[in-house]
Amino acid sequence: MNVKECMNSRRSVRSYTDEIISDEVINELLVLGTKAATGSNGQPWGFVVIKDKEAIQAMSDEIKVKIHDSIEEYPYFRQYESWLTNPKFNVFNRANCIMVIYGDTSSHWYDKDCTLAAANIILAAQDMGIGTCWIGFAERYCNTPEFKAKYNVPANYDLVCTLSMGYMKMQMTPPERKAPTVFYNK
Ligand SMILES: Cc1cc2nc3c(=O)[nH]c(=O)nc-3n(C[C@H](O)[C@H](O)[C@H](O)COP(=O)(O)O)c2cc1C
Repeated sequence: MNVKECMNSRRSVRSYTDEIISDEVINELLVLGTKAATGSNGQPWGFVVIKDKEAIQAMSDEIKVKIHDSIEEYPYFRQYESWLTNPKFNVFNRANCIMVIYGDTSSHWYDKDCTLAAANIILAAQDMGIGTCWIGFAERYCNTPEFKAKYNVPANYDLVCTLSMGYMKMQMTPPERKAPTVFYNK
């Protein structure tokens, strides 16, 4: 698949097979992530990969309760309130792998750099038949001191992106998009 085909076909994938993504493939994705451009060549990323389905389910359960119990702190998530109380809803789409991308805050451009790394990983995964979905629901949870301590993430690393990932059950239809908004000087 060439890059244009990859971009044109990529979708957020929320349905995965049970096939485990091997450590070799995960490593290849991480290395491709590090090919992204970075401000002043800072390369300020750090990654956590979790491949324990029970741990992922436990995280999902905790995230749902935490967001729901303090929904007034999360006005954006009000639109998803009914999902948070639905026992069938899994924040990570029942993926058996999640990847968390952190940026070293001592680097001025860390959030941009790590978002570009995430985009590389998302597109490379698409090329390998691996679907991904950026999981905004995990934003706060994966940035807590407790979570970071558990995975030995230094305190000065800030969460940028959490991805659920797994081999796709099916290739989805290409995304529909609004036409680009372009501003002109006339
Ligand atoms: C910053 C960000 C946060 C997102 N959070 C979630 C999420 O928590 N759960 C989810 O299912 N999808 C999430 N998505 C995926 C979007 O819903 C998806 O990208 C959008 O609907 C467009 O669909 P497409 O990616 O298939 O083109 C997120 C995407 C981004 C970029």
